[in-house]
Amino acid sequence: MEPDHLIHVAVVGVGAFGRNHARVYQQLAKEGAPVRLVGVVDSDTSRADAVAREFGCRGFGSVDQLLTTHSEVEAASVAVPTVHHLNTARHLMEGGVDVLIEKPLAGSLAEADELIRIARERVRIAQAGHLERFNPAVRATLPVITRPMFFEVHRLSVFTPRSLDIDVVLDLMIHDLDIVLSFVNSPVREIGAVGLPILSSKVDIANARIEFDSGCVANFTASRVSTELVRKLRFFQPKQYVSLDYGRQDALVFSVGGDGGGAPSVNPQIQVAKLPTVQEEPLHAELKSFLGSVQRRSRPLVDLEDGRRALAVALDIVAAIRDHGSKIKLEQLHR
Ligand SMILES: NC(=O)c1ccc[n+]([C@@H]2O[C@H](COP(=O)([O-])OP(=O)(O)OC[C@H]3O[C@@H](n4cnc5c(N)ncnc54)[C@H](O)[C@@H]3O)[C@@H](O)[C@H]2O)c1
Repeated sequence: MEPDHLIHVAVVGVGAFGRNHARVYQQLAKEGAPVRLVGVVDSDTSRADAVAREFGCRGFGSVDQLLTTHSEVEAASVAVPTVHHLNTARHLMEGGVDVLIEKPLAGSLAEADELIRIARERVRIAQAGHLERFNPAVRATLPVITRPMFFEVHRLSVFTPRSLDIDVVLDLMIHDLDIVLSFVNSPVREIGAVGLPILSSKVDIANARIEFDSGCVANFTASRVSTELVRKLRFFQPKQYVSLDYGRQDALVFSVGGDGGGAPSVNPQIQVAKLPTVQEEPLHAELKSFLGSVQRRSRPLVDLEDGRRALAVALDIVAAIRDHGSKIKLEQLHR
């Protein structure tokens, strides 16, 4: 690809989250990134037209219409509801378009496998939309990871009537599953979980405990019916405690002994250091990285295999919640 070549992109599905993709592509273009947003697609054509007007491109009612008018489209974000990820991404990849597919990658492992197969067969760059990997706090934490042994993760949000077609595990907890799986790098040995529907017919609040072959244990709590917004991940490893706040985009490292390099805390034996971060909207970093992979034809930082791995664990948690619910006779709540 020529260095000054503009990558022509589109967004398919411009509802609550897809609109953000359109906004960020337009922002990247304004900042001088080699990208041009040429169109947005939504089966709700009035929605497509409204978002297209907002971000100075054309609106379409289908991928077919987009590709007929703009055969030069090279890359697209897929932000339709999860049940439509496979068909939409298939259509795009078969049309020669690289894709960034929102999380969760698909509704089932069979669908995820089909996406992986098509991407390979069509030699497409295909990224899974786990945007917390691009959170500056997560990126700053990677170099300090040694041997995490115990995670405590909370992702709580207030209720909004969106993504209610899926359990909170696939909606919210999957962000943290992907992060912890990437930090621990060990196979999952055992899962225990509990979850309840509160305001929807799906599980709205859940807790899962995962034990890894490495001996690490991770506790996850996710809720979409909370009164507060919390997005925190804390973990312990030998001589260190790391506290990461996704929302604030910062991470603190508490170290025992003299090698932590930080300031003394309340306890003189413990030093605390704030990891250096540069604030950036994770979606901005994610789309920039996707465009870089498209340009260089390189493996995305978060590929479809990563999306499948997080989905597999999330589906096991959903199954463990069901098992637990039927054991304690809560099964009628999960219908
Ligand atoms: N990464 C994140 O943090 C994050 C956050 C929210 C949502 N998401 C994901 O983004 C996706 C969309 O979620 P949302 O909350 O924006 O949903 P939404 O319902 O607000 O938007 C989906 C849009 O897709 C359109 N659509 C439906 N079927 C279509 C089709 N076949 N072709 C074209 N358009 C179609 C709908 O008209 C709607 O405008 C989901 O996979 C969701 O899990 C990711």
